[in-house]
Amino acid sequence: MKIAIDGTAASGKGTLAKGLAKKLGYDYLDTGLLYRRLALDIYKKGLTKFNLINERGIISNANINMLADITLNLTLPLSDHPDLRKQEISHLSAVIASIPEIREILFKKQRMFANKPPSKAGVILDGRDIGSVILPEAKIKFFIDAKPEIRAKRRYAELKGLSAEVQEETILDDLIKRDKADRTRHVAPLKQVPDAFFIDSSALNADEVLQIALNYING
Ligand code: C5P
Repeated sequence: MKIAIDGTAASGKGTLAKGLAKKLGYDYLDTGLLYRRLALDIYKKGLTKFNLINERGIISNANINMLADITLNLTLPLSDHPDLRKQEISHLSAVIASIPEIREILFKKQRMFANKPPSKAGVILDGRDIGSVILPEAKIKFFIDAKPEIRAKRRYAELKGLSAEVQEETILDDLIKRDKADRTRHVAPLKQVPDAFFIDSSALNADEVLQIALNYING
């Protein structure tokens, strides 16, 4: 079985996906990590969101080709690393996520993984376009959201350990900007598909969200 989980940044979709994968014995793919890995790789080459896009909002063909080469070489699933969670990497990943050529390569890789999960039991993907583009055929789809202030608090707690300079207000601002960019981009925007089950995690802890999701799956 395939399970698609989409939602806003820091809404708890990754925690839910991991919890479900453990309970059900399924493979889990955090698709945000793909964009974050690309962002970190080009950040190390000296590119930031400021010099990746020119003054007309355009990314050069040379940069797209460079990103495409890196993308083609990615092997799924990727492992997480604290550097991938840093704020500048989050920003840059959202810029990269708006490039159709890169999404096209990642589309194929994600579908290949989902169609042949190593466990052979089932697969859970979380991201922004899973229910709409990557796995529209998934029998179970979730859309997770929470109030921005609550998501910022959660992300702050997560990031505190990674960077001493991190501030809750800048995180809130970043989350709102990134959600807007994700919702309004032309290619594969973040949206709740009609067959997705909506969970507002604002007033719920991780166990409660997991229980609601399991009840829906078993219901
Ligand atoms: O989920 P996460 O916050 O790690 O994702 C980082 C960024 O990658 C998102 O803000 C979004 O721009 C992009 N992304 C995407 N499609 C996905 C997963 C992530 O566009 N399926």
